Amino acid sequence: RHPGWPARLGPLRVGAGVLAVRPVRLRDAGEWSRIRLRDREHLEQWEPTGIGPWPDRNAFWSWPSQWGALRSLARRGQCLPFTVTVDGRFAGQITVGNVIRASLRSAWIGYWVASDFVGGGVATAAVALVTDHSFGQAGLHRLEATVRPENAPSLRVLTKAGYRREGLFERYLDVAGGWRDHYCYAITQEETGHGLVPRLIAAGRAEYA
Ligand code: ACO
Repeated sequence: RHPGWPARLGPLRVGAGVLAVRPVRLRDAGEWSRIRLRDREHLEQWEPTGIGPWPDRNAFWSWPSQWGALRSLARRGQCLPFTVTVDGRFAGQITVGNVIRASLRSAWIGYWVASDFVGGGVATAAVALVTDHSFGQAGLHRLEATVRPENAPSLRVLTKAGYRREGLFERYLDVAGGWRDHYCYAITQEETGHGLVPRLIAAGRAEYA
């Protein structure tokens, strides 16, 4: 077992409903696939370029191998792969990946939210929960989020959650079929005080459910 895994975080009440975060499950396949096939336009432009067509990569039968890969990384302490739920329904994913320990104790964080739940504070609250957990039980010190400058909603999520912009990574990531510039946002444990969740609640953006 690695520190901070497995874990269940929340619940928190946000505009969209009651949000919770839990490990990805094999039986997420149905909702994961249904939503991602429906939400291609909402998601594909922001996600790493995949091998093969979107409908194949997001078919019901492609979840077991993705889930299995995430689970084995999580068991090795290299990843914290969470499903986000709203009122108990699958609403997206949030993942802490490329976990490096020793004297770096750093990782990246990434997320997506189903189109029918966007604009309700889901991603911001999920980032706050997972950041606090990463710096608490999981023992990390720094999280980094890279976002395309065109992705206004995601930039807003990171700003609301308390991340800082550190710079621009040019031609950084292969996204939607090309090498895309990304802003690097980051946060370290010292900056979080008593936690991002209490701060979000004090700002009136979430409540304990
Ligand atoms: N311009 C500016 N702000 C916008 C726009 C826009 N076009 N559209 C929405 N926003 C704002 C919203 O108003 C809200 O801010 P507010 O609370 O100040 O009003 C904010 O963006 C969104 O905040 P949340 O409601 O917490 O986020 P949400 O649950 O809607 O999820 C997300 C945002 C994850 C970016 C979602 O839109 C999504 O899944 N997009 C596609 C995938 C994606 O881009 N993932 C992020 C990749 S980058 C990374 O993972 C680090």
